[in-house]
Amino acid sequence: MSTAIPTIRYSQGIVKLIDQTRLPHKLVFINCRDVATLWEAIKALRVRGAPALGVAAGFGVVLGIKTYRGEDVGELIAIAHQTAEYLATSRPTAVNLFYGLSRMRRRAELCRRMDVKAARKALIAEAFAIYEEDRALCRNIGRYGAAVIKNGQSVLTVCNAGALATADYGTALGVMYSAKALGKNFKVYACETRPLLQGARLTTWELMRAKIDVTLICDNMAATLMQQGKVDVVITGADRISANGDSANKIGTYMLAVLAKYHKIPFYIAAPSTTFDLSITDGSKIPIEERHPDEVTGFGGARTATPGVKVYNPAFDVTDHSLITGIITERGIIAPVNRRNVKLSVSVGSTLEPRGVRSCGNAFR
Ligand code: MRU
Repeated sequence: MSTAIPTIRYSQGIVKLIDQTRLPHKLVFINCRDVATLWEAIKALRVRGAPALGVAAGFGVVLGIKTYRGEDVGELIAIAHQTAEYLATSRPTAVNLFYGLSRMRRRAELCRRMDVKAARKALIAEAFAIYEEDRALCRNIGRYGAAVIKNGQSVLTVCNAGALATADYGTALGVMYSAKALGKNFKVYACETRPLLQGARLTTWELMRAKIDVTLICDNMAATLMQQGKVDVVITGADRISANGDSANKIGTYMLAVLAKYHKIPFYIAAPSTTFDLSITDGSKIPIEERHPDEVTGFGGARTATPGVKVYNPAFDVTDHSLITGIITERGIIAPVNRRNVKLSVSVGSTLEPRGVRSCGNAFR
């Protein structure tokens, strides 16, 4: 159970995306025929959510090599690397983007002895493998995570960690889809998620389509709901998790984790192993994207703030591992969340690849 509409698809040289900036009012698709269009789609959050960015990275490299007409496989591989470098400058926080790009670069290197046709085929196959992997990982997260939602409970979530944020099923919302498929009765509170309202626009759209009972709240209502005993469990996604379990996710997540601790409510992160970055020792080293001030001074073209006001707009925050009850992965639930348990769960036989692509600098700093 999910939107059943693939967030991202690739066919015959075109990456087709749901334009998430148009939801919930219009279900519009955009066709990315070149890398620049895909880069803009990532930057503008037309496609967003950590795992979906990993999938976009794979297909993006395929777009990059599409127009090469020569016979030199070395040139084709060079184009694949250049495309990956370029896409790496789109957004800095979600490590899945860099995971996808690294996989494509590594696959490209393995093509050196092939002819151009075979290399192109191998790179397309790798991009589809990333896509299929995400579908499988999310379903397993759902399977393990369903246990944290008990019959009759209320779940609080923030942003959108659903089908729209992945290949097609979701992480935090995947847990909810899985619980629903098991016949559990529960309700969800969705934080609206200022400034770009992924909760109000995307999570409510997805959950209502899936016939899951969802109630929208403003972000600043979460404390009151918890005080009133209306929240039994918090489940969110993540964009990058460091080796000790500190988790970066949409701005506002840390606030919910602190509140959950105070109110003795379990707080879970749901994320695949592709969202872990074991090269980063703790959350203070996770690059946090800062976005354009206009996102805070208004919405949808309407200006709400006083002209000329200074703005601070970090898109993500980091939740300390000590505030996290468990991290639901495709291999089970990491609990307690600490360096040792993360290592045991993620590094052994991991699908993680070395991250060969740098993240971008910050345009607004
Ligand atoms: O800025 P966004 O919309 O890309 O932020 C997305 C999130 O913070 C999600 O919670 C996260 O990527 C997990 S998606 C399964």
